[in-house]
Amino acid sequence: MKALDGIKILDFTHVQSGPTCTQLLAWFGADVIKVERPGVGDATRKQLVDVPGADSLYFTMLNHNKRSIELNSKNETGKEVLTRMIEECDVLVENFAPGALDRMGFGWERIQEINPRIIMASIKGFGPGEYEDCKVYENIAQCAGGSASTTGFRDGPPLVTGAQIGDSGTGLHLCLGIVTALFQREKSGRGQKVTSAMQDSVLNLARVKLRDQQRLASGPLDEYSQYGEGIPFGDATPRAGNDSGGGQPGRILKCKGWEQDPNAYTYFIMQAAVWDKVCDVIGEPDWKTAEGYAKPPERLDKLNQIFDRIEQWTMTKSKFEVMDICNPVNIPVGPILSMKEISEDQGLFATGTLVNVPHPERGEYISVGCPVKLSDSSVEVERSPLLGEHTREVLEEVLGYSGDELDRVIASGAVGEVS
Ligand SMILES: CC(C)(COP(=O)(O)OP(=O)(O)OC[C@H]1O[C@@H](n2cnc3c(N)ncnc32)[C@H](O)[C@@H]1OP(=O)(O)O)[C@@H](O)C(=O)NCCC(=O)NCCS
Repeated sequence: MKALDGIKILDFTHVQSGPTCTQLLAWFGADVIKVERPGVGDATRKQLVDVPGADSLYFTMLNHNKRSIELNSKNETGKEVLTRMIEECDVLVENFAPGALDRMGFGWERIQEINPRIIMASIKGFGPGEYEDCKVYENIAQCAGGSASTTGFRDGPPLVTGAQIGDSGTGLHLCLGIVTALFQREKSGRGQKVTSAMQDSVLNLARVKLRDQQRLASGPLDEYSQYGEGIPFGDATPRAGNDSGGGQPGRILKCKGWEQDPNAYTYFIMQAAVWDKVCDVIGEPDWKTAEGYAKPPERLDKLNQIFDRIEQWTMTKSKFEVMDICNPVNIPVGPILSMKEISEDQGLFATGTLVNVPHPERGEYISVGCPVKLSDSSVEVERSPLLGEHTREVLEEVLGYSGDELDRVIASGAVGEVS
């Protein structure tokens, strides 16, 4: 048994934010039926193509364990089929541009009329207000949610992150909203509307930077390296490079081989609790008790000097040797792993965090499996569906079409080419 066995999802999502959400629901056991435009499908199927003629990794890595039905939701028969799907499903998930669902004739009121138990979950770029009608992609959300202005180095421009916190981050938030609404429905018997704005999700993930914004009113942020450098703070949370905050200052430091290898670096956290060990490891035992060094607040104006000294030491070791030396004495460090190193990490394959997935068009590829592990609901990662692969199956088994009625729907052209 899987956690969400028996839950049917009408998956009207595309690109990245919505598909990450419904992929999680599929991994937790829901029957996710992806509704795609006949002959076209999710735009990502044919974006960043690496194997000519095959669905791209962009698509396959975001749409595992789903079924695909082709359906033109603007055609009359298509609307009839969609209505039947809304009747049958527990959740409708969508991330169209604002207003697209209303223009199709399926706004929230109409959907509720068709099925009062359904949960309708939407991702939009912005919540209600000035920008609610805007189309939004990942990096716009990172900029509008406060991440970009607080990422990067003080003397450089704002930066977006490699992690897709706007898309996949919002997908995660929406997924939580959906299972929460399903839980409430158990008691209330009613569905509800769940929305997650990409700006809000990014801001939620960047909340410590809003914390720092308010702390500025009480004085400089003394854990930021700019404090130790004597550079005054402005009126907004600044970019802090690779600093980590609080009583546990941290930096990215060079390791042996950094001149050739762009990832020969380690993250090193000078955790207060293990200051003595840090001093021993780097060969500065006097700093354990020296005035100006012994206590965390005294060190704040010397962080650059101390980290320079630690880096002199890390540069004599590989990033893995730094791990081997520091971990046994409880100094928190972490190697900067390249995607190549991660994709070859057998430990991640052993836990199912990385999986090899066979695919009929493109052969085997590596994907990220389910990042959340439930002890009583296992996940077997299955390849993404080909466009319209399950159209007939869904029409017959889920929606109950048969005989002349099925022939009529297929002949209408609303569901693409059906084999
Ligand atoms: C991502 C985004 C910018 C893409 O924009 P887009 O490619 O223009 O796609 P849209 O969502 O506007 O949909 C395009 C059209 O296809 C139509 N369409 C989609 N599926 C269809 C189907 N199965 N049958 C018929 N029409 C369909 C939509 O109704 C819409 O038509 P309309 O413009 O007449 O209303 C936009 O969808 C968006 O802002 N989404 C919300 C935020 C979001 O999730 N962004 C992150 C994406 S990773």
